[in-house]
Amino acid sequence: MNVTLSGRTQHFRTVTYDAAQNFIHLINQRLLPHDFKIVPARDFRETAAAIREMVVRGAGAIGATAAYGLAQGACAFPGDNLKKFSAHVETVFHALKSARPTAVDPVNAMIRVRREMVRGKTVAERQSLALAAAEEFANEDVRHCEAIGRHGGKLIRPGSRILTHCNAGWLAFVDVGTATAPIYAAHAAGKGFHVWCDETRPRSQGATLTAWELAQQKISHQIIADNAAGHLMQRGKVDLVIVGSDRTLGRTGEVTNKIGTYTKAVMAARHRIPFYVAIPLSTIDWNLKSGFDIPIEERSENEVLGAWGRTKGEGKRTKTGQQKSSEQVYVRVANPSSRAYNPGFDVTPPELITGIITPLGIIKPKELWKRRQELGYSS
Ligand code: MRU
Repeated sequence: MNVTLSGRTQHFRTVTYDAAQNFIHLINQRLLPHDFKIVPARDFRETAAAIREMVVRGAGAIGATAAYGLAQGACAFPGDNLKKFSAHVETVFHALKSARPTAVDPVNAMIRVRREMVRGKTVAERQSLALAAAEEFANEDVRHCEAIGRHGGKLIRPGSRILTHCNAGWLAFVDVGTATAPIYAAHAAGKGFHVWCDETRPRSQGATLTAWELAQQKISHQIIADNAAGHLMQRGKVDLVIVGSDRTLGRTGEVTNKIGTYTKAVMAARHRIPFYVAIPLSTIDWNLKSGFDIPIEERSENEVLGAWGRTKGEGKRTKTGQQKSSEQVYVRVANPSSRAYNPGFDVTPPELITGIITPLGIIKPKELWKRRQELGYSS
């Protein structure tokens, strides 16, 4: 998407590959909304660390990063021993897979890269096939998000008030985003509407990333505390909910998304507000048979016990008397002796979901399995 910094507008993708250096370049999402910085991941271990530490996050973005990461690892292999090369690729695959367990996109992306790669007869052929497959995964992610925008944009009417949770925006994908794709399409069509961004504790992706994205595109929005959504729904201030997903089960229609999504879906059903989930095809898990089998990432207690933010830098002086610039700090909020429990995701059952906005159109969650062939099912 276009980003305007110091009056200059430029187009960015969240993740790009630099063939000359075999580096992956990532927008460092840990620094947003205060700083916009692109950082390199110089080998597959740095790429896995960037996924784990959420320098890059969001289902499609970590999918593309893992695809590039597998190709990056493959390309770094010296020599022409095919057997050793294959063992090395497996090491890279597992390092990237284990970085974040809940989203299925990285696994789906790497399986695709690996499947393409094995068509090559030599190490060199496999390396170039891996790169081409990773590039194609990233480009397809963008095409899927654009198609989601075309289908989902029709749901937004002039004056609509849309609630979204977490960040399923362009930062969570290679470009455009899923939950935000209908929003960007409706904005481009000149419809006026308003977006409520759930703050999304504990990491506040709504308050930091979604709000930043919408502000960049000059879309009317306000951040609300996570607990405010029910009140807004009860007072008739929400017309539509659109969220993303990190793993949607093709067999059952269950949707895993950022913790708090299930609560919003229950509230939306109570108030008869349409609740949509927007996904590219890489987010569908065709294997698991129950939402209870989805690995739910448990994250650090510190995310719940405190918060990260920026000091204003004002009033603080260095020893030499210079004004200190603002810095990122962690502030402990909770009672010092208390511990926390921090599941990162929850699962919303299909009966609470009005429709899944896919690149192929809007589909009832229970219909995914029936339409599996056209949705890219592979056993
Ligand atoms: O923990 P994150 O930030 O990587 O979580 C991913 C998300 O932002 C959400 O769950 C999102 O709604 C779906 S990912 C497109």
